[in-house]
Amino acid sequence: MKVGIIGATGLAGRELIKIFEEKSLNGEITLLSRKKKGFIETEEAVYPVVPISKWEDFDIVFSAVEKEVSFELFKEHAKEKPVVIDFSSAFRELEDVPLVVPPVNGSVLEKRVSLIANPNCSTAGLVLVLDTIDKIVEIERVRVATYQSVSGAGRDALNEFFYESEFFILGKTPDSIDIFPEQIAGNVLPGIGEEEEGYYTEEKKIINETRKILEKEIDISAITVRVPTVRSHCEAVFIDLKNDFSDTIIDALNKSPYITFDKYPTPIKATGKDNVFVGRVLSPSLKHLQLFLCSDNLRRGASLNAFEIYELIKNKWF
Ligand SMILES: NC(=O)c1ccc[n+]([C@@H]2O[C@H](COP(=O)([O-])OP(=O)(O)OC[C@H]3O[C@@H](n4cnc5c(N)ncnc54)[C@H](OP(=O)(O)O)[C@@H]3O)[C@@H](O)[C@H]2O)c1
Repeated sequence: MKVGIIGATGLAGRELIKIFEEKSLNGEITLLSRKKKGFIETEEAVYPVVPISKWEDFDIVFSAVEKEVSFELFKEHAKEKPVVIDFSSAFRELEDVPLVVPPVNGSVLEKRVSLIANPNCSTAGLVLVLDTIDKIVEIERVRVATYQSVSGAGRDALNEFFYESEFFILGKTPDSIDIFPEQIAGNVLPGIGEEEEGYYTEEKKIINETRKILEKEIDISAITVRVPTVRSHCEAVFIDLKNDFSDTIIDALNKSPYITFDKYPTPIKATGKDNVFVGRVLSPSLKHLQLFLCSDNLRRGASLNAFEIYELIKNKWF
């Protein structure tokens, strides 16, 4: 199996390499880059690097780059090989592109396709929890508020955060702000992405992607907030149920292999972990449920989900 990774120098790409290394499958991977020639080194191994233009030479290609780059590369891709697993939002909402969280809707990959979309980092953890609940008591309505870490915006955003922090700690204003609309060090930014008619693009992603993955027109709204943490996203989730809350929901969350039940979930606990950490589960009235979740945006929210797609299609299609 020839596996290529585009975007291997980025945060999500690096986490993907780490997962291949943990599974001792890193012998399969080649890194494709726009500028690096020769080799990229990790603590575990040294990888040959080839130009991105060679992407068609592989069986499976992971693309962990910005949506504009992915769109240009794959907008006309319709061949059987390679199968592209795209991390960006470029294709997620297209009807003929499956958007997959394997434990929830892996069955949509029955039919072979050229391109598979990986979900938004906040959607991935959320749907694992909603799907578990919805199977026990059907969900009527969902309201979500996110607390998203800086690494969700990529390598340059993280560098900006560290740079700003040095000013902030001295009580000074940073001399430049490039990535975020306002300073993120010591701050909370109530809107992620671009604003369109009052809503932010990250909010639309969570809403539309949740509906597509759960395959239902669920009544859901979201407010997305950037907070000055480094890694792992959190979400406060308020759920109205069609029928009365039952303790079976707690049992199901407890038993899910993708969820770690924790009385007091935090981003630090979730960082580096495969599972979504879920806690503060309360039912203040019969048909209502509220909970707090934390999941590693680079791992559960991106690379691990993509790796699970890879495992699924590797066995099925190759
Ligand atoms: N960060 C997350 O939590 C997360 C979660 C889910 C999905 N995603 C998605 O995953 C993708 C990567 O995110 P990230 O956070 O890893 O970003 P990142 O840290 O900023 O890394 C970006 C990667 O893209 C490469 N790149 C940038 N411009 C390029 C171009 N014009 N041509 C070719 N390669 C280019 C960079 O390579 P160079 O070293 O050559 O600059 C780098 O490897 C994005 O679509 C993002 O939305 C991210």
